[in-house]
Amino acid sequence: MERDRVFLVGFMGSGKSTVGPLLAQRLGWPFLDLDSVIEASFGGPIHRIFAEHGEPCFRRMESDAVRNLERWNHCVAALGGGAFIEPRNRLHIKRSGLSVFLNLSPELVLERCPPDGTRPLLKDPASVQELYASRLPLYRLSDFEVDASLPPDRIVSTILEMTGLRPSPSRTASPPDHGH
Ligand code: S3P
Repeated sequence: MERDRVFLVGFMGSGKSTVGPLLAQRLGWPFLDLDSVIEASFGGPIHRIFAEHGEPCFRRMESDAVRNLERWNHCVAALGGGAFIEPRNRLHIKRSGLSVFLNLSPELVLERCPPDGTRPLLKDPASVQELYASRLPLYRLSDFEVDASLPPDRIVSTILEMTGLRPSPSRTASPPDHGH
């Protein structure tokens, strides 16, 4: 099993983008937020990709971004809430690193991030419950699961304990230069 990359998996609002940088800092590895990578390559926010090009287009961009993560020798990556759901992405993620599911109940998700339009799939409570329930068995295919209602620093120490990961300062922390 590849142990050079950690992928944070979980529902919208489960804290992946908060925990990710803290974990990356502890490991001395770069942090990547998949949604930010997609937004940078599109040149605008995700809700605009959904509105102007539709969800299937977003999912294609997401799959490309997942594949490109391989260019990093080491990284902690926060995945968007749907990235691990697509079987091809999941296979890729499982092959190239450790996946950690941050599990937060839909009730707490709604408390933390009331629907404001920035997340197109975060709508009324009933649809959040339904989406969470349909995704839960797939999220649980991750290598590890953590209670995401814990404080972020506890989540980080739990992940380090569970995975046994330690900083590896001698290894390169940036993508290889394929240009020369
Ligand atoms: C999505 C989650 C979002 C973003 C997009 C779709 C999903 O990311 O990728 O709005 O399908 O659950 P976060 O989980 O970072 O909010």
